[in-house]
Amino acid sequence: MKICLVTGASSGIGYAIAEALQADGYTVVATARREDRLQQLPARNVTTITGDLSDAAFQDQLISTVYEKYGRCDYLFNCAGTIATGTIEEIDIDKVTDMIQLNVTATIRLTYQLLKRFRQQGFGHVINMSSVLGTKVRPTAGAYAATKFAMEALSEALRMELTGSNIQVSCIEPGLVMTELHKDWNVHPKEGMGIHEPLTTDDIVGTVRFIMQQPAHVRIPRLMILPKDHNI
Ligand SMILES: NC(=O)c1ccc[n+]([C@@H]2O[C@H](COP(=O)([O-])OP(=O)(O)OC[C@H]3O[C@@H](n4cnc5c(N)ncnc54)[C@H](OP(=O)(O)O)[C@@H]3O)[C@@H](O)[C@H]2O)c1
Repeated sequence: MKICLVTGASSGIGYAIAEALQADGYTVVATARREDRLQQLPARNVTTITGDLSDAAFQDQLISTVYEKYGRCDYLFNCAGTIATGTIEEIDIDKVTDMIQLNVTATIRLTYQLLKRFRQQGFGHVINMSSVLGTKVRPTAGAYAATKFAMEALSEALRMELTGSNIQVSCIEPGLVMTELHKDWNVHPKEGMGIHEPLTTDDIVGTVRFIMQQPAHVRIPRLMILPKDHNI
């Protein structure tokens, strides 16, 4: 029985990954703040744990619950994330600090704590939902890109530090995916960027399955996936 901990599992990419993993026969621990949305996941082989990942005590409880219940964790999917957009001079700075708290601080802390368990058990795989904006930047996307660059830097160092072990780290770097991430935007990036056919969460699930299907000697540290109209 392989155990997958999926953050951000109440909507979008995290929800789709949790649902697909369950369908593929994995046991899934799905977490986010909205309990009603987590409850929409299939019940069989899915445990839901509701809470705010920015709360360190909740993170510790989450990891303890996984190990008390299953005694192991095979995969951590870091999908919880948010986006704040705007020029550096005019962006809502409170939204930026909240975003950094979730996308960087909470994500690295959860990974750090779970890596101790991975070392004890001798295996584990961290799959980070980075972004194409973890590899390049554009005006008004600097703050969000900074959080994804941070994720990429931490993952790349970790990859080297884990060399030769059975613990691995992968970053998926999507372009625009249709989820709730941009729901509050006045102009959706689909229009703003002229992307007629954005990625779907199924496309992201395809990259996850590709990474998970690799033989034990193969590592996929980074995998970028873009819609065909992505031109920057
Ligand atoms: N959509 C895209 O175009 C795109 C492209 C590249 C990368 N990404 C990345 O993919 C990841 C998933 O985004 P998405 O597009 O699927 O967006 P989404 O539909 O808005 O999902 C975000 C998830 O994060 C959870 N979350 C937010 N704040 C949280 C908190 N404080 N504690 C715990 N969970 C929290 C949300 O659940 P609750 O609100 O229930 O807590 C939700 O499940 C993000 O890291 C995003 O940066 C997205």
